Amino acid sequence: MDNPTPPPLAVRHLRKSFHGVRRVEDVTFTVGAGRVVGLLGPNGAGKTTSIRMLLGLVAADSGEALVLGKPYRALADPLRQIGAVLDAGGLHPGRTAREHLRIGAAQGRFAARRVDEVLETVGLAADAGRRIRDYSLGMRQRVAIATALLGEPRILVLDEPANGLDPAGIHWLKQYLRTFADGGGSVLLSSHMLSDVARIADDVVIIAGGRVRSALSLDEALASSGGDLEQYYLSLTGTDERAPHAAR
Ligand SMILES: Nc1ncnc2c1ncn2[C@@H]1O[C@H](COP(=O)(O)OP(=O)(O)OP(=O)(O)O)[C@@H](O)[C@H]1O
Ligand SMILES: [Mg+2]
Repeated sequence: MDNPTPPPLAVRHLRKSFHGVRRVEDVTFTVGAGRVVGLLGPNGAGKTTSIRMLLGLVAADSGEALVLGKPYRALADPLRQIGAVLDAGGLHPGRTAREHLRIGAAQGRFAARRVDEVLETVGLAADAGRRIRDYSLGMRQRVAIATALLGEPRILVLDEPANGLDPAGIHWLKQYLRTFADGGGSVLLSSHMLSDVARIADDVVIIAGGRVRSALSLDEALASSGGDLEQYYLSLTGTDERAPHAAR
């Protein structure tokens, strides 16, 4: 029974300093197949830095960040294994969504039909010929998600995907990620909004000050908080004035 299939995503004891200041202190979690995991924490908690280490964009000082048991940079065909959305602001404003996706498909050597498929998936088919500069923030998020889906990955990593989405967009995202995970996919998404994570995720990893404070299923977190997830979150992240020492 040794040596089971490695989890889709696993980070262990990640640590990272910038300019001599420890910003990620000890981050450990896994994302299993079929799970949507929310990385939740206040601004500056270390969510984006942890995600960047997982994607091989920032080198960890110590610890490991593995995708299917390997560092991202050792993956043979990463864009077909894992799709990532880090910053929807990085899109070229003068291009249309279709142009942007065609370039992405060509770069990744994906079938040209994927462009129309992903436009359909994210609900942008009707607007695909408009320039990205004229898009709302939520529409840009959808373009970024569509780009991540081009290679038909089984793992998705989304940094603050709910940012800028209206309630219909959040509903769409939740449904999409649920179907994706129910088909055996794995999702890691970050948010500083408890309400986003509570709506979308199966498991919640709460991080503050570069450390994991709690890693539970949403149901377990609800049970251990007596149903008051917000109070639980505030006390764990040290942002609750009634429990100033809880995050020590
Ligand atoms: N390249 C960098 N150089 C210096 N400091 C950095 C760098 N990247 C991140 N940091 C610092 O590391 C800490 C964690 O930042 P990070 O972006 O991971 O937080 P976050 O949890 O994603 O926050 P937010 O909710 O605001 O997105 C912050 O104090 C940030 O200023
Ligand atoms: Mg961030």
